[in-house]
Amino acid sequence: MRKLKNSELDRLSVDEFKNTKKTPLIIVLDNIRSLNNIGSVFRTSDAFLVEKIYLCGITATPPHKDIHKTALGSTDTVAWEYVENTIDLIEQLKSDNVIVASIEQAENATMLNDFKPEANKTYALVFGNEVKGVAQNVVSASDIILEIPQFGTKHSLNISVSCGVVVWDVFAKMKEN
Ligand SMILES: C[S@@+](CC[C@H](N)C(=O)[O-])C[C@H]1O[C@@H](n2cnc3c(N)ncnc32)[C@H](O)[C@@H]1O
Repeated sequence: MRKLKNSELDRLSVDEFKNTKKTPLIIVLDNIRSLNNIGSVFRTSDAFLVEKIYLCGITATPPHKDIHKTALGSTDTVAWEYVENTIDLIEQLKSDNVIVASIEQAENATMLNDFKPEANKTYALVFGNEVKGVAQNVVSASDIILEIPQFGTKHSLNISVSCGVVVWDVFAKMKEN
């Protein structure tokens, strides 16, 4: 089998991306410390046509060279906004009828493999800080908690890796709906 050249991948242009119907998914980054993780979330969000990324608290905003290293231009495609207080945003999203799903390891969390998104609903996926995770008040205010089952020795995944796993899973399930 022959590997494809970039020119054969038939990707959207920036303008085409802006005019393309988006996946009803919003990403909320709750106090993410690493600029590389932020950029990586942008790149994943571009791939799966995420509607918008909210950068909250200490989460840095583009333009920044260390975000660019992993975002590779996707900060120019995916819509984003900075919001200082994550909990205020969560309450706003809920009042806009968005289903808020914190991505976290928590009591009575729904395992990602058991999760089925409701048709015609927009979901906000909240990812947490590299050390502290999603803040407890945000977890408590969420409509659901989704956990990625793990089977090895480490307690958790890197936040940007968990974003790739969850966004792909939910995107694929939404496509089936
Ligand atoms: C490195 S983890 C944070 C771990 C931290 N010890 C804590 O208390 O949550 C960073 C973020 O990645 C996501 N994450 C990592 N592994 C996960 C898993 N197995 N299930 C759900 N979310 C996960 C969560 O959003 C978490 O807040």
